[in-house]
Amino acid sequence: MFNTLEAQPADALLGLIKLFAEDIRPFKLDLGVGVYKDEAGRTPIFAAVKAAERRLLEEQDTKAYLGPAGDIRFLDLLGGLVFGDGWAAQAGRTASIQTPGGSGALRIGAELLRDVVPSRRIWVGLPTWPNHAPIFRAAGLDVKTYPFFDVASQSLQFDQLMAALETAERGDAVLLHGCCHNPTGADLSPERWQAVADVLEARGLLPFVDLAYHGLGDGLEADLYGVRLLSARLGGVLVAVSCSKNFGLYRDRIGALYVVTGADETAAITASHLASHARTAYSMPPDHGAAVVRIILGDAELARSWREELDAVQKRIAEIRAALAAHGRAGPVDLTAVGGQKGMFSTLSLTRDQVRTLRAERAVYMADSGRINVAGLRLADIEAFVAALRSL
Ligand code: LMR
Repeated sequence: MFNTLEAQPADALLGLIKLFAEDIRPFKLDLGVGVYKDEAGRTPIFAAVKAAERRLLEEQDTKAYLGPAGDIRFLDLLGGLVFGDGWAAQAGRTASIQTPGGSGALRIGAELLRDVVPSRRIWVGLPTWPNHAPIFRAAGLDVKTYPFFDVASQSLQFDQLMAALETAERGDAVLLHGCCHNPTGADLSPERWQAVADVLEARGLLPFVDLAYHGLGDGLEADLYGVRLLSARLGGVLVAVSCSKNFGLYRDRIGALYVVTGADETAAITASHLASHARTAYSMPPDHGAAVVRIILGDAELARSWREELDAVQKRIAEIRAALAAHGRAGPVDLTAVGGQKGMFSTLSLTRDQVRTLRAERAVYMADSGRINVAGLRLADIEAFVAALRSL
């Protein structure tokens, strides 16, 4: 029976992990999957995470099930972090669920959209994270696209985005990146967020915000501007939150989905849908990382230490961006715009063949789209990277 199966291609991003590991050349650069690296090339565990894990080891006295929504206190504390001062007023009318990573939140959110969006349609900006459309399609949604960023000119296509939203049907869902756009690092200014909120409101569209890199762009508060604006202004918003990058909990798979609804009763019914989708997919989320985040956010000293480390990561990414941008033109690409972009990723204007040449001849690994993980580049490797680009 299984001999009828055809091999599936490796995931465009995760496949790079294996290829890079198998490369035996002495100098190689991994700018593939979005993982932060320090100047020593390591992806360290945050000190606050280590401290919380020690406390968890000592204090945890049971592993009994928590239920499909996961750790309720974690959800409340993370909600406070994401939504800020608005959370106290908003918590009652928000349905939330802990999920296996941000991807789990996107999938459970997509299942909910199938329940509530009459057209089953979601609009996704281009380019976007390569797993967005597959997740939505796997949940039975119809994916439509809007222009977001032109890689050749490194510019946001804001007018085209607004024009596309004008053509969406009332009730359609719209995917937005909360900050640190993946794969381009191109973010909306506060004024543009206001304009997007206006059109979403006027046309009765339902935003689904993917929030995975808050704290890595302009700092935590600034990075959360858009999500907070939409949640305060609109009657319905979905927010998929990941703790992978800003807590460095990648493999522990910690995320959450918040669904801001119009009223308390609606939130309770919505929460029952989330729980039922989780139950049929994986039953209950993994606990460890959520307990760690709960301990950190519930302890003023650990929370302060975590914020300091996160701020240091953000500063380092900004430093790498500035150093790259200072090189200006490097072979076929102009690195100048990288300096003003935010978070882990930028997409360079490279053809797939040029990307493959960099991999084959220079052991420089990046996504076929030309996306680079800026946060994976050591300052010490920038010269070599730029030289590789110039060799094209
Ligand atoms: C990325 O885009 O590299 C990360 O979000 C990791 C992933 O799951 O693709």
